[in-house]
Order: sequence, then C-alpha cells, then structure tokens
Amino acid sequence: MDKLTVEGGTPLRGEVELSGAKNSITKLMVASTLTGDPCIFHRVPHIGDSRVTRAICESLGTRFTDRAPRTLETHTPALRSSEIPLSLASHNRLAIMTVAPLLHRQGRAVVPAMAGGDRIGPRPVDFHLAGYQAMGAEVEVRDQAYYFQTEGLRGADIRLPYPSVTTTENLLMAATLARGRTFIRNAAIEPEVMDLVMFLQKMGAIIDYNVDRTFVIEGVARLGGTTHELMPDRLVAASMGAAAVASGGDVFVRGARQADLVAFLNTLRRVGGHFEVMAEGIRFFRQGPLRAITLETNVHPGFMTDWQPPFAILLTQAEGMSVIHETVFEGRFGYVDELQRMGADVALYDTCLGGGRCRFAASNYQHSCVIKGPATLRGADCAIPDLRAGFTYLIAALLAKGTSTLTGVGHLDRGYEDLAVCLQGLGARLKRS
Ligand code: EPU
Repeated sequence: MDKLTVEGGTPLRGEVELSGAKNSITKLMVASTLTGDPCIFHRVPHIGDSRVTRAICESLGTRFTDRAPRTLETHTPALRSSEIPLSLASHNRLAIMTVAPLLHRQGRAVVPAMAGGDRIGPRPVDFHLAGYQAMGAEVEVRDQAYYFQTEGLRGADIRLPYPSVTTTENLLMAATLARGRTFIRNAAIEPEVMDLVMFLQKMGAIIDYNVDRTFVIEGVARLGGTTHELMPDRLVAASMGAAAVASGGDVFVRGARQADLVAFLNTLRRVGGHFEVMAEGIRFFRQGPLRAITLETNVHPGFMTDWQPPFAILLTQAEGMSVIHETVFEGRFGYVDELQRMGADVALYDTCLGGGRCRFAASNYQHSCVIKGPATLRGADCAIPDLRAGFTYLIAALLAKGTSTLTGVGHLDRGYEDLAVCLQGLGARLKRS
C-alpha cells in the first residue's frame, strides 16, 4: 500500500477534523518519562511518528495503555535502559529528546548520531550538545553516537545561536529538574513549544517566559503525573487550507485555531484566498483569481517553514510572479524539480530574494524561488522523498490534468492520519494500492 494513484481536477469540498499535533505528541510522550507517575493524553494522532516515539519510549521502559481511541496513558515507573537503539533513531528526530529524562533518571544517555526526519538541510544537533555541556553534562561523540554523562544537571545561562524548536524543547525538559535556575535566551516560542511548557507546568515545573523570547526555569525536585489535551495540528490545518484554496474548493477544518495560524491567514488573504473563522474551526475557500505575492518564512510568529511547500503550489495558481524566501531550513525546495516536471514555472536562486538578508546569504544554498503563474499542471509519476514534500506533490496531483502516481506514500503516514481516506471524503479521486 505504498502507491497513490490520483486523478486531478476535482476541487476539494467538505469537512476534515484535526487530530493532535505531531510535533507536540512526540515531545510530550518523551516529557512524560521525566516522572514515575502515569500521564494521560487526549486527542492523540494515529500517525507514524506517534508509533515510532512510542517504540522509543517502550525501549526505555515506558508502558502505554490505550484508554480510548484517542486517549493514551503513559507510565514509566523505572527506566530500564539509557541507550536508544539505532533501529528506532533513524525514523524521526526524537531520539535526541530523550536525553533529559535519561540524564535525570540514569545519569547517562547514548543516542545514535544518525537521525531521521525530513531531508530539508543538514539539521545538526550542535545547539543541543552545547546546551547540555553548559548544564554540566559531559558529551562525547564516538562510534556514530552521542554519549552524555552527568552527576546531576545544574542551571545555566544559555543563548541559542538561532531559535531552534527542538533545542528549546530539549533544554526546557532538562532545566525543569536541574539544580538552580536556567535561562534559555533567543528561544523558540512556537505553539508546539508552548504546548510542552503547559504540560511541564502541570507536571510541577516552574517556567517563566519574557517578551524577549527568554525562558527562565527554576529547577524543582520532582515532577508528577498529569492529564493533557494536545493542541490540534496547525501544519495539517495549513496543508488542508492551502489545498482547498489551490483546488478552488471549500473545506471546513474542524479544530483549526486562528491563534496558531495568524501569519498563514494573513498571507492567504494577501494572495486572494478566503477563510472564515468559526467557533469550532476555520473554513477555507476561493472566490475568484489568486494574486502573486512575496513571502518569507521565519520562526514564530512568522510564516512557518512547514507551510511553505503547500503554499508554493497555491502560488503556481496565482496570476503573476511570486517570490518565496526560505530562511529557516537550507534545503526546503527539494520538491521543485518534480513541480517543474508537472508544468510549474519555478526557478531557484541562492540569493536572498524579496526582502532582507538571511543566515544563508553567503552560502550556495538555493533558498529563494520565483514562481510564475497561473500554471496548468499535468499529471506525473513522482517518488515522495519525505513528509511535507509528499503532501506538496499530492496537492499538485490533485490540481493537475490527468493521472499522477505517487510512490513512497509511507512518508505521508508519519504526519497525516488516514490521508487518502480523508481526501476521498473531500471528493478527491485517488486510490491507494
Ligand atoms: N539548527 C542548528 N543546530 C541545532 C539545531 C538546529 O544549526 O542544534 C538549525 C537547523 O539546521 C535549522 C534551524 O536551526 O536551520 C531551525 O531548526 P529547528 O531546530 O528549529 O528545527 P527542528 O527542531 O529540527 C522542528 C520541527 C520541524 C519544523 C521546525 C521549524 C519537530 C520534530 N520538527 O524541527 O517540523 O519545520 O521545527 O519550525 O518538531 C515537520 O513536522 O515536518 C518538520 C520538519
């Protein structure tokens, strides 16, 4: 069941319901192992990354009990290992997040240096390693693994070179049980990070944050169990919103929250797409032609890098010349080759187009693109390289004239729940085989 055959040309219409965020459940499952008490999660998504993170935690000693279809109990009375097996580390980027519970409860952590996840740039973990060293851990890299050891983590004053999401989350977890006070400056404040902060606070952590994106964490002696309803997945919300507008359809995304999508909604309005915020979700639709725009990705509260690929498809349908400047990941335009094959007029540049200079200005990374539209896309055979590129090909296939065949559909399962069934429910003509 690794192939999708898609007949393009049908506008998406109907309703989808969001489940919990992939980039929240994975970190919160790991955070729940900071305590020996049970924790309960509601709105748990049934996606590949939940399953892989569950397997990682199980390998360390966590017991999981499904209490209801979307309610999961985790319980880690004791950790029985301090090493993450290589076979589990290569699927997503979660292995490095286990260092905090392992160091607090075992004094030692061994994590394979090879991480999985989307291929959107080199994605190093140097900020994580430096943060742990500042908190008193010894860190060694040998035999393609990171070895961490400590007699006890202590508070530190850490300034991140860039507001990295997982580094902020990793160090937040470490700081909650460290001796003394930790400052994480230039931290990421994405809603998924704040979901973790709220979960940790309910567990007993003391975490303040300042307007200058500094977290101040006062270490506590122990954390306890709690119950948490995960935030809805705003990446899936934006993917569906972009697909609805690009296809000329009308989709109500139940559970979508305006507060998580402000930059996306502003950009959608600039391009001429429509939305209606309602009590229970957001309706995305199209009334007339789309206009070309210039857009730059950024850390929160900016336009999120994960929204960029589906939005690029939308821009292939806009009249005129659009510019996208990607400033978060070096390699986020890997999907462009296939789009060109499908008939999109897209050109890549290694310069910073459309605005200010970014970290990649002096590099050769192709991190800007110019899209000329509107383009008539035609069906093609595409091999999906990773999660977000996969959804992008899928929207392109839904807009295209003719039939497309997408292989490597397993990548989509990492972050989208029952995607084929969900899109069929919106009228898409596709078949998984
Ligand atoms: N960076 C470093 N060194 C580090 C850490 C990060 O140089 O030690 C750089 C990265 O290479 C990148 C920038 O900092 O250029 C930002 O990376 P960040 O650490 O914020 O990204 P991430 O934590 O690896 C998470 C999400 C991504 C999402 C980004 C940005 C998870 C598991 N992944 O990645 O989501 O795009 O934040 O919001 O939370 C996805 O869900 O498909 C996905 C890729």
